[in-house]
Amino acid sequence: MKVLVKSGRVEEEEFPLLAINLFEGEAEVGGAVKAIDRLLDGAITQLLKSGEFRAKLNQTTTIYTLGRLKTKRILLVGLGKRSEYDLEAVRSVSGKAAQTAKELKLKSYTQLIPEEGKLDVEAVAQAFVEGCGLSLYQFNQYKTEKEEEPTQLEEFILYTTNPELTPKLQRGIAVGEVMVESVSLARDLSNLPSNECTPTILAEKARAVAEANNLTYRVLERKDMEELGMGGILSVSSGSEQPPKLIILEYRGGGEEQPIVLVGKAVTFDSGGISIKPSEKMEEMKYDKSGGAAVIAIMQAVAKLKLPINLVGLIPATENLPGGRAYKPGDIIRIYGGKTVEVISTDAEGRLIMSDALSYAAQHYKPQVMIDIATLTGACIVALGATTIGMMGNNERLKEMMRKAAETTGEKVWELPLWREYDELIKSRVADVKNVGGRPAGAITAAAFLQKFVGAYPWVHLDIAGTAYTQEGSVDKTYIPKGATGVGVRLITQLLRSWGFK
Ligand code: BES
Ligand code: ZN
Ligand code: ZN
Repeated sequence: MKVLVKSGRVEEEEFPLLAINLFEGEAEVGGAVKAIDRLLDGAITQLLKSGEFRAKLNQTTTIYTLGRLKTKRILLVGLGKRSEYDLEAVRSVSGKAAQTAKELKLKSYTQLIPEEGKLDVEAVAQAFVEGCGLSLYQFNQYKTEKEEEPTQLEEFILYTTNPELTPKLQRGIAVGEVMVESVSLARDLSNLPSNECTPTILAEKARAVAEANNLTYRVLERKDMEELGMGGILSVSSGSEQPPKLIILEYRGGGEEQPIVLVGKAVTFDSGGISIKPSEKMEEMKYDKSGGAAVIAIMQAVAKLKLPINLVGLIPATENLPGGRAYKPGDIIRIYGGKTVEVISTDAEGRLIMSDALSYAAQHYKPQVMIDIATLTGACIVALGATTIGMMGNNERLKEMMRKAAETTGEKVWELPLWREYDELIKSRVADVKNVGGRPAGAITAAAFLQKFVGAYPWVHLDIAGTAYTQEGSVDKTYIPKGATGVGVRLITQLLRSWGFK
């Protein structure tokens, strides 16, 4: 899809579809919309005044212009209340318009950029591109019988009546395009079924991303892990025929600065292992690699945006299966660095592979900060639902930066406390720590476990179990189709775009 900016007198242009946004409860229209309304003998204001079109968020109606304008159809899309207008509303209405254009099988449509208001124009352009591009995402590579020949949207035009805005709009578009491409990559990886995305295949895909974007790529193989003493990932992988991989991607854009390290959980299938999960919905555990998928996609986004930072992505990748060599409840294992863990449940595997990676990151990179992202606990879904990322960490500034980024990207995060008291719940009688703290505060005790391996480095943990894919409790968004959401990619990339820690 090509995205272009055009400017001039929109009422004189010819487009297959022109999408126009209106605020709820405002019957007066201004600027270009007023000119169009006049040419239509007041059809738009009539729709508003009659109450037939209230411009509630995502409400739409189509007006055929019947030769009064060169443009054939106008799509009115409600923006909701002006007082609630934000970038999320923009992404939302943009997704709505794109879906309508798709239903009409159009190859091109045009979006009129609303008059300059309280939002930054560059960010608005980015949000329009994100809403459009992300709403059209589909995962259909395994459909051999295409339902009907789909018409692809080839062109998306952002139209402004103010030509001076063109450079800003273009900058916003460029960022929006990177976001769409990277979120789509994360969705693709996460949506892949486990037979088509083993740790080996995931590593190959990460390598392709690295090669295309000038990232360095390395993998720690099983024998490397054995030499290093990475008992977490080795144990989790031991029940599977598929070898584990610790994928390492590095981006250098920040000179001699200490790197930021991202760690993403990539359990390509989580059966629970010997502590096997119930079979209902077990197919959803192909999404247990979503954190790793996000990290690969963020590395791509950061490289494409040429951000002035040094960034490392660590992706521990493994299956969790109950094979004959599988690790078992009661086992005591050694994480990288030597801490011992009593395994209570083999289904609490994410924290074991993440702690190897976090501990490795702390040792090898002396990072400015560490950020981890993982589909870590069902308990996080119980606590916050499927709309909100659970955030925990040891550094106020970093958490604040994450909240700020979340406000911009609309990926909601909510902090859960990590008070010292929770450490009591994961004390083991026989080892340094145990991998399950019981039912109470399950999302927090998982984070408390991870914290044992981050040392004194500033660190934030994102639990995306509820938000990585659409599930019971998910709330529909126009730009998030069913399946993997790619959550975290825009969030962390936004955080890194505005980087300024210390
Ligand atoms: N991958 C799961 C967490 C999960 C659950 C992700 C639902 C997405 C949706 C994780 O490995 C797991 O199984 N966690 C256990 C931990 C428990 C055994 C302490 C859980 O949440 O039940
Ligand atoms: Zn599990
Ligand atoms: Zn898991």
